[in-house]
Order: sequence, then structure tokens, then C-alpha cells
Amino acid sequence: MLKAFSCAVALLAASVISVAQPASFDSASKVFRLDGGNVSYVFGVNARGELQQLYWGGRIGAKDAFPQAKPMPEWASFDSSYTTTPQEYAGWGAGLFVEPALKVSFADGNRDLVLHYESHTMTANGVDVVLKDINRPVYVTLHYSMDAANGMLTRSATIENREEKPITIEQAAAAAWALPPAHYTLNYLTGRWAGEWTLTQEAVHPGARVIESRRGTTGHQANPWFALQAGAADENHGEVWFGALAWSGSWRITVEQDQLDEVRVTGGFNPFDFGYVLHAGEKLETPVFYGGYSAHGLGGASRLLHHYEIAHILPHRIGTGEDAAPKPRPVIYNSWEATEMNVTEAGQEALAEKAAALGVDRFVMDDGWFGQRKTDHAGLGDWYVNPEKFPHGLKPLIDKVHSLGMDFGLWVEPEMVNPDSDLYRKHPDWVLNFPGRPRSEQRNQLVLNLARPDVREYVLGFLDKLLTENDIAFLKWDYNRNWSEPGWDQLPPDEQKKVYVAFIQNLYWILDELHKRHPKVELESCSGGGGRVDLGILEYADEVWPSDNTDPFDRLTQQDGFTYAYTPQVMMAWVTDVPHWLNLRTTSLEYRMLSSMQGSLGIGANIAKWNDEETATAKRLIAEYHKVQPTIVQGDLYRLISPRNGSEFSATQTVNKDKSQSVVFAFIHSTQEGRLFPRLKLEGLDPKAEYTLTAIEGKAGPQTPATASGAWWMHHGFDMDMMFRGDFKAAAFRLDRK
Ligand code: DGJ
Repeated sequence: MLKAFSCAVALLAASVISVAQPASFDSASKVFRLDGGNVSYVFGVNARGELQQLYWGGRIGAKDAFPQAKPMPEWASFDSSYTTTPQEYAGWGAGLFVEPALKVSFADGNRDLVLHYESHTMTANGVDVVLKDINRPVYVTLHYSMDAANGMLTRSATIENREEKPITIEQAAAAAWALPPAHYTLNYLTGRWAGEWTLTQEAVHPGARVIESRRGTTGHQANPWFALQAGAADENHGEVWFGALAWSGSWRITVEQDQLDEVRVTGGFNPFDFGYVLHAGEKLETPVFYGGYSAHGLGGASRLLHHYEIAHILPHRIGTGEDAAPKPRPVIYNSWEATEMNVTEAGQEALAEKAAALGVDRFVMDDGWFGQRKTDHAGLGDWYVNPEKFPHGLKPLIDKVHSLGMDFGLWVEPEMVNPDSDLYRKHPDWVLNFPGRPRSEQRNQLVLNLARPDVREYVLGFLDKLLTENDIAFLKWDYNRNWSEPGWDQLPPDEQKKVYVAFIQNLYWILDELHKRHPKVELESCSGGGGRVDLGILEYADEVWPSDNTDPFDRLTQQDGFTYAYTPQVMMAWVTDVPHWLNLRTTSLEYRMLSSMQGSLGIGANIAKWNDEETATAKRLIAEYHKVQPTIVQGDLYRLISPRNGSEFSATQTVNKDKSQSVVFAFIHSTQEGRLFPRLKLEGLDPKAEYTLTAIEGKAGPQTPATASGAWWMHHGFDMDMMFRGDFKAAAFRLDRK
């Protein structure tokens, strides 16, 4: 049984309370409080001076106040009060047995760190709280801000060494979160290449569940996002706490139920092989850990997160505040599955003509255009246009694409090098390596050490030149392996582990610099599919490539998992050829189109071979998609029927902001025993408004009215046509307010 939360809300007269700003501080009780949307977050300075977590959940009354934080008691002589008390950012010291936020080694061998409150400063949207070790000049500034509209919290820490000697940071979290007592189900995303975005759900038990990447990058295998459902919470009901880490390097999130059943989540840099030497006067900034709360289940949590990503994180936003949003993505054509590396000027131009005829907005040439790139054995690192494939450079192709009314995008993989390249022959020392040890290749390539200043300059230099000399609207930025032998032999041996931070900082620096120099150029983050999708890269990337697996049936489950953490706006989805290369499955073009139309649509098939019927179908559905795309990619998403767990059916629905339009997708995977598609009861409409139903593909059942109230569509719902049966069938509808 979980014990009562020790610091229950008490109605006390507060001395200094202001709730107009998201953050306030009560100087009498030493309690900080942030309020935004339907959420309150409260912590305070306890009698020992530690920063103690007090409350995170539904918004409490403006006058409700908390008494001063009281440390939890020790549990016999085995668990000290220091370890049982949930702290905002606990140093490893004083007998801490739960996950520390910060662990350091001092030059004299001391490894004890106990952080106490020192001071604070109110900021525009929150507060910065300074902690200091009890007797060493190690300072940590905790940055908090809260979105006034939806209660999303942004947390990070700055660690500063004011000792005269260096300290080594062995573990540094961005934030630690404590949850109210409950029985929780943990949701997280797992996978592998071509199998990303599996929503994994399990009960939280005593002990720790570690979700992480040790790969130097975000990884396909786990994604830095979590959601914890309390008790019987489900897709649409009940309390959910969630968080997402904005870091594209090795990361770790630890979900821990301690010996007294308190549940805490701690996340930041992965402490595995970590060791960041902080010299006198230096600072280390952690990544940002975003956190949110919803009383409307996992669906409510993802809608909050989607909205936050669109309004506050993605680049190229237009407008300000909660109304800011990037434009819906152009419909793209990508050449990869059609031509792989066999790109030529004539071949690409032929594809471009066909793409334009379909109504595509952007033509993207994938791998194979540069250096001596004929296979994946050579060329990476040599970013000149291959003169045999493009004798006159890229200009003729780009001009052709423009003349067809599309803009042009190009594939690059800037952080990699093939040993068979001029770059590697000239600079073999530029890759991650330990001198005298093997350099393990994956896909015949090595990782350039972006942490090195010369590599950083090289990468920025060639990209800047490429974008300056060519009219390129979009880069697909790929990254096709993870790290091995992560040495940085320019630095002294005890400082080389800095590479885990410096590499990613330089990646972000390059992306930022490119945005400044070429503000209109858009970017896709791809890493052999979804290996680099996180809220750090999404500050620079307009879209992501969720998976190399383009099978439309597999994509339904992948897209379902993806949308728990990320908005459909960034979820690029191509329609490709059949039988599909991975599952050897054949599905109709309508099914493939509708599967992809749930995200940002792309075409990745060999359209040069498409017949008139296929061309007409794709053209019709691209035109339909263009009409409703903003609702699909930026509206509120409701996962009406999940495709997970071998479900026979699945369905999604999106509703735009002013509730004037809604789009419904329905898929049959394989009907059994003639079962009919379940009645679809819609969500999120205006109950009093009248909506007209129009089929984009497929038919509604004969009893379905052409027009009915939002209440009717939500309470009664509508049936599919009786003949909507079989294998791999798809239908889509739009509802428009009259
Ligand atoms: C991996 C990507 O995920 C693919 O889409 C394609 O761009 C290849 N790399 C090219 O090498």
C-alpha cells in the first residue's frame, strides 16, 4: 500500500503570493509554485536547506498554500531521511541510495556532494534556483519555466565549478521528477532499425527501469520520452505525467520506485562512460527535460505535447505564443527507394516530371549524387557533385525541378566518412578512435569527431558552400551508424569523455549557424529511419524520418507509437512500391496512400513505372490531402482504435483548433468471421455545431446521415459500409462544420 503523501496541501495564509506570473515564491514557507494551464508544480526549501518536491498535478486554487517542506523521516537505520526525501536535484552524498541528479569527484578524492538552497531569481516564465554544496563552491542553477497556457514545464540545470581545482562530473541529470503516490503504468518507446516506435507498457514495481542510449546518439532502440499513467488511466481518461528529454546524444531516463513506494523519474546525460572535467570557473549546461501533466489520459498527454512542439519547439514557426506554428510540410517526392544510389541527371528529371504531375510540392534527391558514391563503400565525406552522374553540376536538375513548380531538396550525411574517400585519406585522425585500436566500421563508414573544432569547421564549410552555390530548399540530414571507440585523442586522457557533450553541442551549433546563414532552408532529421528523433534535434529539424520501414501496415503501429511523443506535423510518411521490400506484402495504392496521409505525406515509389490508374489515384488523393492537411498534422489527434496487439481494425481522428473540421482514417488489417468495422464514435467536436460528412476514400454505412450535430457524431457515431471487409482496407472521411 502506498503511504499518504506527506506534504498534503494546507490552506495557510501566504505572505507573498502572486499567480499572475507562472512562478511565485512564498518567503514565509519558502515554497515555490508554478501554475500554467490546468497544472500546478510546487517545491520548497526544507528545514535542512534541501530543495524538496511537494506537488505536481492538476491545478490547485490560487489561494491554496503549502507549509514549509518537511523532510521525510528515515526508515529505521537503513534509509536516511536524505534518501527518503524527494529532492528536486539531489547530489550524491550523505548516504543517497536512489538515483542522484548529480555525482561529482573532487580533485582531492572527496566524492560527497550535498546541495542546499542558496538563492533564486524570478524569470519571465519561471524561476532560477541556485543550489550550493554545503562546504565546497560547486553551484547548480536549476532553471524552471512553465507554459502559461498548457502547463508544460521546462527544466534544466547549469553546474558551475568555483573550486580552484577541476572536478569531474560523473552523472548529471537535466531534472528529477517526483510523482504523487499511485500504482503506475510506465509507457515508453522501444524498437530497432525498421521497427521503431513500439509503445511498451508495464507496471512500475519497486526498483528501477532504465531507458537509455549509450550510442552517442538518440537511438532507434529507445526514445527519450516517458508517460506514467496512474491507476486505471487509459487513452482518454485519468491522470498521466509525461516527459521528453531534448538531447540527441547518449541519454538516460531512470524510472524508480523507491523503498517507500515513491516514484521518481531522473533523466539527462547518460552516466555510462561519462566523465566531464569541469575546470575552475567552468560551467556545464544540461539538456532540457520537458514535463507535462494531463487529466485526460495518454491521448490528452500527447495532444498537449503535440501542441507544445508545434507552438514552441519546431523551427520556422510563424506567429507568436500559443498561435505560433510552422506551415504544414510540403508533399515531397524522395528518390531513395526508386533509384537508391544510381542517380543520374536524366533519371532524376524523369522522376521529377512524374512527381510534378502528381501534385508533389518538393523533389528530394537522396543518396548517391556526390564523390565516388556508387555503393555504400565509398564517397562519404567528399561533398562534391559526381561529374559522371551530373556533368553540369546540380543546376540543370534544380532548374528543371523549379520549372515544374516544385522546390528542391538534397540528401547529406555530414557526420560520416567512408575510409574509401579523399577526406579520410587526408584526415584519418578526424574520426572517433582510440589510437592503436581497431576502427570498427558499420555500413563501411566511420564517425567524424564533430567535437573537434577542425571537423566542425569542415562540416559547416561544405554545407554552407553547397547551400550558397545551389538553390536548395531542404536537406535530408542522415546519420547511419552509432558510435564505437569514442576516443578524442586531441585531449588529455582524463578529459576525452567530454566528447559525449561536445559532439552534440557542435552538431546543434552547426545547425544553428546554418539556420542563421540560410534561414529558409528546411531540414529532415534521419538516422537510418528514426534513430535521431528527440526534442533537441526538433529545434532545428522541420520533420523527421520515422523509419526506413515504409510498409503501410507496419507504419500504422509505428505511427501510433510515434504520436504518443511527437506531432504528426513532423512525421514524414512515404508511399512506396509493392510487394514491399521488407515484408513482401502487397497492398492497394489507396491503402498505402491513406496510411501515409496520417502524417506529412511523401511519395517514395518508382513513379516512373506507375500506370495511368495509379497516377490518377495518387493525384486525386494528394489533392484531397492538400485540402485537409492542416487538420491532420496540427489538429488534436484522437487514437480512436489502436492498431496495437494484433487488432483487426484501427482508426484515428483529428480535429482542428476551431473545431470546424475533422478528418477520420479507418483501417482493416484482416477481418475475421465477417465481423463489421466497429461504430466510430468521434471525439473533440463542437456538440452544438452541424457537420457534414464527406468520404475521401470509401463509404459510410447506409444509415449514416449526410449532416448531423457534433453531439450525434460523438454520441451515436457512424458505421462503415457493410462491404468494408477483407484484408488491408482503408477509408477516410472529412467532417466540415456547416
Ligand atoms: C538511410 C535512410 O533512412 C534512407 O531513407 C536513405 O536516405 C538511405 N539512408 C541512404 O543511404
